[in-house]
Amino acid sequence: MEINFEDKTVVVIGGTSGINLGIAEKFAESGAKLAIASRSQDKVDQAIKILSKNKHKAIGLTGDVRDYSTVETIMKDFNTKLGDFDVLISGAAGNFPAPANGISSNGFKAVVDIDLVGTFHVMKSAYPFLKKPGASVINISAPQAYVPLEFQIHVCAAKSGVDMVTKVLAMEWGNDGIRVNSISPGPIEETEGMKRLAPTEEILNATADSVPLKRIGTKSDIASTAMFLSSDHASYISGTVIPVDG
Ligand code: NAP
Ligand code: COA
Repeated sequence: MEINFEDKTVVVIGGTSGINLGIAEKFAESGAKLAIASRSQDKVDQAIKILSKNKHKAIGLTGDVRDYSTVETIMKDFNTKLGDFDVLISGAAGNFPAPANGISSNGFKAVVDIDLVGTFHVMKSAYPFLKKPGASVINISAPQAYVPLEFQIHVCAAKSGVDMVTKVLAMEWGNDGIRVNSISPGPIEETEGMKRLAPTEEILNATADSVPLKRIGTKSDIASTAMFLSSDHASYISGTVIPVDG
C-alpha cells in the first residue's frame, strides 16, 4: 500500500516533540510540507532542523493553544506561506499524575484548557484554511477518554471532551468533505507523557506487561496510523476514535 504526501500541506499543532513530532517526521519523509507550532522557541527551532533535513519545506511558530487569537494568527501565517491544509493534527497536551484532592482549580483548568479548549481553538481557527473537499483532521486523544484512571481526573475529563469534539465536527464538516478522527495512543516509549506516568523502570515494565502485545508502543506506530488515516485508503473513515494501544 503506497502512501504519498508529496507537496501536501500538513499542520501539526504541538508538533515539536514526542508523538506529534514523530507524526510530523513521517509526513515529511513522505514529501509533505510541514507547519508546526508549540510554546517553546527552542523546541520549534530543534524540530524545524529535524523536519527540514533533505531540504524538505518546514516552518514553525511559537504560541499557546489556550489563547485563541494567537492560534488564529498562526493558522493565517501557515496558510499564507503553505496554502490550504490537506492534513491538520491537533496534539498539544499537558499531563501530570495527581489525586483529585491534590489538584487545584487552576491545575484542573490548565489541562482542560490545553487539551480540550486548545483543540477547539485549533479546529475553529483552521477551518477556513482546510482543503474542501479532502482534508483529514486528527485529534490526538488518549485511553483516559474512555477508561477512568486514578490520578488522571483532569486528563480523563479533557480527553473525553476531545473525542466528542472529533465526533461533532465529523458530523458538521462531513458536508464539506472533511474527515475528522481521533487517534488514541497507548503507552508510547521515549515520550514526555510516559516519563510522567511511568517514571521508573519497574513501572515501565509493569506497563508493558499489561499490554496484550507485551510491549510499549513506538512513535512510528502512531505516525503510521496518522498517515493511513489521512490517505485515500481511509476515505470513508470519519468520526471515529482509533486506539493504537497494542
Ligand atoms: P510532549 O512531547 O510533551 O508533546 C506535547 C506537545 O504539545 C509539545 O510539542 C509541547 O511543546 C506542546 N504543548 C504543550 N502545551 C502546549 C500549549 N499550551 N500550547 C501549545 N503547545 C503546547 O508529549 P507526548 O507524550 O509526546 O504527547 C503527545 C500527545 O500524545 C498528547 O496529546 C498526549 O496527550 C498524547 N498521548 C501520549 C501518550 C504517551 O504515551 N506519551 C499516550 C496517550 C496519548 P511546548 O512545551 O513547546 O509547548
Ligand atoms: N501536581 C498537582 N498540580 C500541579 C502539578 C502536579 N504535579 N503540576 C502542575 N500543577 C498545577 C500547578 O500547581 C498550577 O496550579 P496553581 O496555580 O493552583 O498552583 C497549575 O497546575 C498550572 O501549573 P503551571 O506550571 O503554572 O502551568 P503551565 O501552564 O506552565 O503548564 C502543565 C501546564 C502543568 C500541564 C505542564 O506540566 C506542561 O506544560 N506540560 C506540557 C508537557 C506535558 O505535559 N507533556 C505530556 C503530554 S501527555
